[in-house]
Amino acid sequence: MRSGIPGAVTKKLFIKTYGCQMNVYDSERMAEALGGQGYVETTTPDDADMILLNTCHIREKAAEKVYSELGRYKGLKAAKPDLKIGVAGCVAQAEGAEIMRRQPMVDLVVGPQSYHRLPELEAKAGQGGKALDTDFPAEDKFDHLARRPKAARGPTAFLTVQEGCDKFCAFCVVPYTRGAEVSRPVDRVLGEARDLVERGVREITLLGQNVNAYHGADGDGEAGLADLIWKLAEIDGLARIRFTTSHPNDMGDALIEAHGSCDKLMPYLHLPVQAGSDKVLKAMNRKHTAEEYLRVIERLRAARPDILLSGDFIVGFPGETEADFQATLALVEAVGYGQAYSFKYSTRPGTPAAERAQVDEAEKDDRLQRLQALLTRQQRAAQDAMVGREVSVLFEKPGRIAGQMGGKSEYLHAVHVHAPDVARGEIRRVKITESAANSLCGTLA
Ligand code: SAH
Ligand code: SF4
Ligand code: F3S
Repeated sequence: MRSGIPGAVTKKLFIKTYGCQMNVYDSERMAEALGGQGYVETTTPDDADMILLNTCHIREKAAEKVYSELGRYKGLKAAKPDLKIGVAGCVAQAEGAEIMRRQPMVDLVVGPQSYHRLPELEAKAGQGGKALDTDFPAEDKFDHLARRPKAARGPTAFLTVQEGCDKFCAFCVVPYTRGAEVSRPVDRVLGEARDLVERGVREITLLGQNVNAYHGADGDGEAGLADLIWKLAEIDGLARIRFTTSHPNDMGDALIEAHGSCDKLMPYLHLPVQAGSDKVLKAMNRKHTAEEYLRVIERLRAARPDILLSGDFIVGFPGETEADFQATLALVEAVGYGQAYSFKYSTRPGTPAAERAQVDEAEKDDRLQRLQALLTRQQRAAQDAMVGREVSVLFEKPGRIAGQMGGKSEYLHAVHVHAPDVARGEIRRVKITESAANSLCGTLA
């Protein structure tokens, strides 16, 4: 079989993505870059010519998954020695050549800032060699990553605008795996957004490890995230804008104000706080207090009263006592989250907190259970409160029942509606009639 590229034989690429949304975006860009080498994506590793794991290093379990997944490919590699196996993403960056020592069948290791070099690395691995690149090159990888122009796509898309982190929270590997904070220039972001819209995208989620610290070059000056949002809002056909993930200290006035006045900016914000005790926040190097976080929430709600809030929490951080944990519960009670993610603290090699005295594992389990019980109650209450209200839904795909369509409300709730005549990408008003386990049901208004 021949692909569109003269002389190139079509090969199959299987990408498995772990971790955050930025990895989802990166996987898409890597598939495009390898498209130039004649690769087309396949949904199973069984018939692949190349397997690429795009990995996450955030917690121990996430990193270990990579090795157990690689173990499963042993048979495939034995049956097809030409099969190339690559590890990309944050485990690749953190462990580098160690991956090839532990799993010698890995041909290629590429860190998140070197993806634009994938075609060269793939060629090197193809000649029976091993290829490793975990540099933080000076050039912008996005400028060198091929885009697949004008291919049609679904109604929602991620767009990375900022990468890396300079905050160095004491528990976190991101500053080491993704490197220093870098923002993409405004014109590049707008260009990519326009291209996405021409291909059918109606909702864009701007991504960054600290997306609200965005400060991209804009002509002779610089633009903040709020400036960028206002410019994106001018694109005809783009109906919705979201952004994630934000740090409380970068939640500036202009951005809060945009939540109140920019119609295209959706009333949903993921604003992790991690803990409710000032002592723990200080030990985490979060550089804000619980009170300061609550003040930001207050200002957001003043600007946009119906905003749905989401957060991240860590329990069992070194030094966290029962009283500290109670402060986390109190903060959660005070905020009222519509969505949340909570984790047991996981020691990460090379981070400051890894060296400290650890909280007992059973205690961590117990705290996580209590926190999750509270967060689940809040989430359920927020979802149930939607019954009887009208929301607008961006329809993304058919539901499991015939004639049903599924999409997301402005608050990011999954909504199912009997709507046989509604097409993918349409936005319609929906009256919510029922709150189920993980989604809402409604009827077209
Ligand atoms: N940049 C984002 C979050 C990045 S990581 C922010 O600053 O908010 C996503 C989440 O993983 C974090 O918010 C945190 O809750 C969790 N996390 C990070 N490191 C962790 C660790 N060592 N153990 C447990 N959870 C961790
Ligand atoms: Fe990690 Fe903290 Fe940076 Fe978020 S702000 S990516 S938690 S170091
Ligand atoms: Fe994981 Fe790297 Fe994202 S560690 S959470 S994939 S930035």
